[in-house]
Amino acid sequence: MATSRAANIVEKAMRHPDEASIATDVSNYSKDKYGERAQKIKALTWQGKNSVKVVETAKPKVLDDGDVIVKVTGSTICGSDLHLYHGFIPELQKGDILGHEFCGVVESVGPASKKVKVGDRVVASFSISCGDCYYCKQKLNSMCERTNANQILNVMYGRRTAGVFGYSHLVGGFAGGQAEYVRVPYGDVNLLKLPDDVPDEKGLYLSDVLSTSWNAVVDTGVKKGDVVAIWGAGPVGQMVAEFSFFNGASRVILIDGGDGGWRLDFVKKRVPKLETLDYTRLPKGESVSKALKRMNEQRGPDVAIECAAGEYAKGWAHYFETLLGMETDTSELLNEMITSVKAFGRCGVTGVYAGYCNHFNIGALMQTGIRLIGNGQAPVHRYWEHLLSLIREDKIRPLDMVTHRFKLEDLETVYASFNRREPGMQKVFIQTKFSSPPAPGSPTLTEL
Ligand SMILES: NC(=O)c1ccc[n+]([C@@H]2O[C@H](COP(=O)([O-])OP(=O)(O)OC[C@H]3O[C@@H](n4cnc5c(N)ncnc54)[C@H](O)[C@@H]3O)[C@@H](O)[C@H]2O)c1
Ligand SMILES: [Zn+2]
Ligand SMILES: [Zn+2]
Repeated sequence: MATSRAANIVEKAMRHPDEASIATDVSNYSKDKYGERAQKIKALTWQGKNSVKVVETAKPKVLDDGDVIVKVTGSTICGSDLHLYHGFIPELQKGDILGHEFCGVVESVGPASKKVKVGDRVVASFSISCGDCYYCKQKLNSMCERTNANQILNVMYGRRTAGVFGYSHLVGGFAGGQAEYVRVPYGDVNLLKLPDDVPDEKGLYLSDVLSTSWNAVVDTGVKKGDVVAIWGAGPVGQMVAEFSFFNGASRVILIDGGDGGWRLDFVKKRVPKLETLDYTRLPKGESVSKALKRMNEQRGPDVAIECAAGEYAKGWAHYFETLLGMETDTSELLNEMITSVKAFGRCGVTGVYAGYCNHFNIGALMQTGIRLIGNGQAPVHRYWEHLLSLIREDKIRPLDMVTHRFKLEDLETVYASFNRREPGMQKVFIQTKFSSPPAPGSPTLTEL
């Protein structure tokens, strides 16, 4: 794995003292100092490439003064979990508990908790922030400087990102929320209270997919009248399409083609004015860029947004270059976006890229004035209160993407199906034994 190789080399070159202000690398609670071993909980753990397992482990306990223990009532699988499942993200260890989108009820709080109270219904942000550093003060919480002690990113990216729940030791090594209980550091900062009129099946998605999609749209600068093209029709691409219209786009073109392109029809059913482009059904010799030009007076869309990922390539070159350790990500989609948009157009990258790519079309970027924008790990805290109010006013519709409800105990099978992008499975809701019955309008339980 090219990414792991790059990371290992960098790790050997650098070892720094721990710089986080909280206990990191608590990715499972089975060690005495991390959990109550007398009390067992169920949790989904990573076991190796394409292998996950529900295990019994210890119940988490308060380790730092700001910790809050949440009893989970809802979680889900994100497209980002597939990058972990595939072994694409380095520094994941066997037995790590996954899951970075979850909501629940506060079970206990550390002595420093002022806002969050036992019994509150809450949703967590996927990244973990202190609330008080340079970036947190600007609500750029995904870049918090105090919750991730891992030094690899300093070398690879020139800075570190914040800690993330259930997402490898590269981002702090925190146990995730695909579990019955989870430890939430700085609970006052990283938990948002859910009001009674917002059920888990809607509020849960503020953790990540809603905030991420909103960030992709506003950070790439979608404005009134724009034509927006979106790569990837998964849950993120779907919400980016809905939020682009919400923010004034005149036309939205959604591109996919994986697995028969069923996701394009799925989204179109919910957003009839959407236009779709299935790259597997293009006329012979026509590229995605050419098709987008044809659909847009030969000039192309104003804005392109990448909601797929750097591990998904259509050609063989990337496969061999990864194998040889020559790149971690493909530049295919980036080049497609750059050559598709109008001159001086904007391209936002929200799909996950890990490291380096070859064959990047820097010429097209420079010569035609393309603005390539890394949207970053989404700064959820910047948007989630606003998005919660839009949910309450029924102006945005998280349930548009939710197709299934499963039990935590069935997650091994659900991961495999989600990874196959089984037709009809867009976004799932994972219940635990603590969940309420399905809210009106949300899917009923599928028993496996
Ligand atoms: N930046 C962030 O904060 C953040 C947060 C959440 C998710 N993400 C990332 O956003 C991406 C999308 O998330 P998701 O949950 O919707 O994932 P997903 O895996 O469910 O969907 C990705 C879609 O992209 C399609 N795709 C693959 N290659 C393509 C290509 N060449 N052209 C067009 N479409 C292509 C796939 O067929 C699939 O339908 C993932 O990479 C995820 O990790 C980023
Ligand atoms: Zn995610
Ligand atoms: Zn911070």
